[in-house]
Amino acid sequence: MKTGLAALIHPKSNDEFFASYLKNLPFVVHANQAHLLPLTELPFLQSLKVLLKSWPAAIQAHLPDVRDEASSIDTTPKDAQKLFDNGMGLLFNEAQSLSPVLQMWIEDMRKDLGLSSLTYGRCLIYATPDGKGTAAHFDQNINFVVQVHGTKKWWIAPNHHVDNPMTRHTMGQACDPELMSYINAPLPIEMPEEAELFELHAGSVLFVPRGSWHMTEAQGDALALNFTFTAPTWIDLFSAALRSRLALSPEWRETADGVSDPARQDEAERKFDYLLSTLVADIPNWRAGEILGATEF
Ligand SMILES: [Fe+2]
Repeated sequence: MKTGLAALIHPKSNDEFFASYLKNLPFVVHANQAHLLPLTELPFLQSLKVLLKSWPAAIQAHLPDVRDEASSIDTTPKDAQKLFDNGMGLLFNEAQSLSPVLQMWIEDMRKDLGLSSLTYGRCLIYATPDGKGTAAHFDQNINFVVQVHGTKKWWIAPNHHVDNPMTRHTMGQACDPELMSYINAPLPIEMPEEAELFELHAGSVLFVPRGSWHMTEAQGDALALNFTFTAPTWIDLFSAALRSRLALSPEWRETADGVSDPARQDEAERKFDYLLSTLVADIPNWRAGEILGATEF
């Protein structure tokens, strides 16, 4: 029996998948029931009722105003059913904490995708009432959706407004200041016209590319299991290496003294310039293999 990526995208091949993945294009597989059985047969995924009974932690309920994670409340399993019956979507975070099977699939998929060992992988379960879904947004994550029960429509469009975002953004909501600093164009308030529609049924699997615009709507009550990977960027790998390198130096570990005191600011800048000059002298000796060797192998 296949596991990880190969099981998820059966009967398509990993080569077919990577052709889309490397171009950041969506990828969908339908009617993949047999290879998903280790997931879809998990006891707590049999129905929303069973899931609510099995769930040991708080549940996020999405308020109807913006239909988004940005507007949610934490609730108990008992109240969650009532909120769901009143049209609110539910999010069960870190579902792998209930299941070694999910933990194994996350780790297998991370390796299959070739992502860093510093990747934060997790499972999310979304319960979505009939006619509800999420408002148009993008995420910084790499995401796979396994539709377990019901039908859900996904609209996905390439994101020409920002490449490789490092945070999520919902259309019409305030924009993160760092995200704002590297957008290509003003962020839209409506889904781009080129959005493609994917209709997921039980057994469908959808890869949602990092940063792509998407919105969803359930047809009938729906339950989906997501595998979500927050993988380090080159910035993250470099920053981590830089920090561990600088941590070896007693001078870099000094308190950054005097930086806000006008009387001592010149001295503080001289000190900082000196430290930067030692770094500039050191960087030509850095090798990617040595940095990755410390984290990946
Ligand atoms: Fe999303």
